[in-house]
Amino acid sequence: MTKPLTILGIETSCDETAAAIVRRSGEGKGEILSNTVFSQIAEHTPYGGVVPEIAARAHVEHLDGLIARALDDAHCGWDDLDAIAATAGPGLIGGVIVGLMTAKGIALARGLPLIAVNHLEGHALTARLTDGVDFPYLLLLVSGGHSQLLMVEGVGRYARLGTTIDDAVGEAFDKVAKLMGLGFPGGPAVEKIARGGDAARFPLPRPLFGKPGCDFSFSGLKTAVRQLAEAQGPLDEKTRADIAASFQAAAADVLADRTINAMHMAEGFFGAKPKRLVVAGGVASNLALRKRLEEAASSRGYAFIVPPAKLCTDNGAMIAWAGAERFALGLVDNLDVSPLARWPLDPTASPARGAGVKA
Ligand code: KG4
Ligand code: ZN
Repeated sequence: MTKPLTILGIETSCDETAAAIVRRSGEGKGEILSNTVFSQIAEHTPYGGVVPEIAARAHVEHLDGLIARALDDAHCGWDDLDAIAATAGPGLIGGVIVGLMTAKGIALARGLPLIAVNHLEGHALTARLTDGVDFPYLLLLVSGGHSQLLMVEGVGRYARLGTTIDDAVGEAFDKVAKLMGLGFPGGPAVEKIARGGDAARFPLPRPLFGKPGCDFSFSGLKTAVRQLAEAQGPLDEKTRADIAASFQAAAADVLADRTINAMHMAEGFFGAKPKRLVVAGGVASNLALRKRLEEAASSRGYAFIVPPAKLCTDNGAMIAWAGAERFALGLVDNLDVSPLARWPLDPTASPARGAGVKA
């Protein structure tokens, strides 16, 4: 039992500028006091994807106001805070610098401890904030930049079981949306039109399905969708919906297959069932994927935990919470801590082999 903590969290690693105040009770229970997000979608839409330089400038413009609002919404003053947590990577380096430097400035000016948070640890620990999940658990982390299966043994203790050998699943959703003219960001748009589509109309490849291990590959699926769309074009509404549904079903099959393999691997490595499957990251907000993964979890007797959609996509509360978990263990950082474009959760994991490998 530690003393209750009130932490400001800052997130600027991609295209959401976010600040939040989270409280962690002495028993380790989390409570979100405020959670403010400025989505930069409008800034990036004309370019069909996130432009790093525009993102960094937008963070500079909006971050101060968001922090003030997060304090206001939480009815907190600076003196109520115990520490400042900020994403220090991985991500678009310009944005990470804006958030981390802002946090350093506040820490210095207010004499508060600084916690440099790994963005992926923010996603990984969110289920403990929302659902009080105990360690250990198996984590499927699926976002725009990452597709990984990890054993989460504790704060800062991650064993990577599998990762993508090419594209991340969120990236595949974004590219499929773009090639069908559905706009940006792609995931929610694909999910929306897939609801009215026939998932059985177009048989699409399921890369690595049925193969040993739990690495992922999504680039072949994305290419198959592009070739299909070109062959079917110009696309009417029904065909677009059927392509979206067929793609989403293929992605769901692959995620479920790889996750079941990861369960076997985790049980082998650790000698006992982790018993809990947590899904996190922006793609975890997809309801069709959740359903498929929930079936996979229950088929093997695992509890299934997914945070609410707005805590799956990037937000400040997850950074504040990861900061609170670290701070409670006495983990703080010096003011000379560096922002990092790449920062794997499991630094001991061997690099994945494949074209365009992501860490
Ligand atoms: O975690 P996140 O907000 O940012 C990163 O850390 O990457 O994830 C963003 C990704 C994007 O690729 C977005 O298209 C995807 O999550 N995403 C979805 C859905 N909502 C967001 N993918 C599929 N279905 C969704 N409903
Ligand atoms: Zn993220």
